[in-house]
Amino acid sequence: ASDSVSVSQFPTLNRYIMGKTGDKELAILLMALQLACKATSRACNKAGIAMLFGLAGEVNSTGDDQKKLDVLSNEIFIDALTNCGACAVLVSEENEDPIFVPQEKAGRFVVAFDPLDGSSNIDCNVSTGTIFAVYEKQHSGPATVNDILRTGNDITVAGYCMYGAATELVITFKGHGVHRFTLDPSLGEFVHIQARVKLPEGGGKKIYSCNEGNSRNWDAAIKSIIAKWKDSDKPYAARYVGSMVSDVHRTILYGGIYLYPADAKSKHGKLRVLYEGFPMAFIMEQAGGSASCGMFKGKIQRLLDIVPESIHEKCPVVIGCNRDVDAVLEEYKIQG
Ligand code: AHG
Ligand code: MN
Ligand code: MN
Ligand code: MN
Repeated sequence: ASDSVSVSQFPTLNRYIMGKTGDKELAILLMALQLACKATSRACNKAGIAMLFGLAGEVNSTGDDQKKLDVLSNEIFIDALTNCGACAVLVSEENEDPIFVPQEKAGRFVVAFDPLDGSSNIDCNVSTGTIFAVYEKQHSGPATVNDILRTGNDITVAGYCMYGAATELVITFKGHGVHRFTLDPSLGEFVHIQARVKLPEGGGKKIYSCNEGNSRNWDAAIKSIIAKWKDSDKPYAARYVGSMVSDVHRTILYGGIYLYPADAKSKHGKLRVLYEGFPMAFIMEQAGGSASCGMFKGKIQRLLDIVPESIHEKCPVVIGCNRDVDAVLEEYKIQG
């Protein structure tokens, strides 16, 4: 293989977006998101050199210590999205309140995002990511918080960008499958590398991915299913990066399951509905997998059906291939 690539062989993300939607405002918004991902990728690459490792010194509204790169990437996304003219309101992990775009720059869309996911991995050069979900405002008046407190089924476009060995943007327009784009550093462009990504047939590799250090606080069903997977003739492998983007990306491509369940200490789990749970569940389902909360508030719930009541609300996450998510739900029936 040669390193000279024909530029027409791999369509750019720009061309893909233009072909997918005739809605200019949505296209402009996605260009802004794409640009912010490139800027964040560069900031992650240069973090060690640019003195961007370490803490910023503040705590965000869900109790996380903010890293310098959490703050910088958040500024990058807010800047790109408020100025693109397509957004009405933004919700970020790093901002306690929703950000209402000034009327003169406001558009029809609502975006929830996690500017830097896996930020505990920054300082040791392990993969991080960005997660986003885009909704369309359903009325012509000024935006309110209710425009974002909707079920995940209402998402128009969801995606994530992984800052890994390569920078890769994975995106799905509702009903159009999941598509992978790799940032070609020599072109500064995301190029299409895989269309309509599906989880492997039959569920793929037997991998479970969770923070097993929490196991003493898990409920009986989660304890039991993980024990069964470890005890089977062909035991499951454990893989856990600790960056949701990387762990979910691997699950989509190789198969298996990713869990951040509710437990005795954290009744809602750890991950946040609007900018972690929903977009990842949406992508997982579009890729042919399943997304559940497991047992949550006394019943089994499909993740995308939740109706959040506040913007930083959390929910348990049980997502991956149907084989393994079904096994978890079956275990809840067995355990009663
Ligand atoms: P963030 O870095 O955006 O705050 O997200 C952290 C999340 C997610 O990326 C990861 O999967 C999970 O927290 C890891 O949690 P534990 O350290 O509890 O395993
Ligand atoms: Mn955080
Ligand atoms: Mn996160
Ligand atoms: Mn984050």
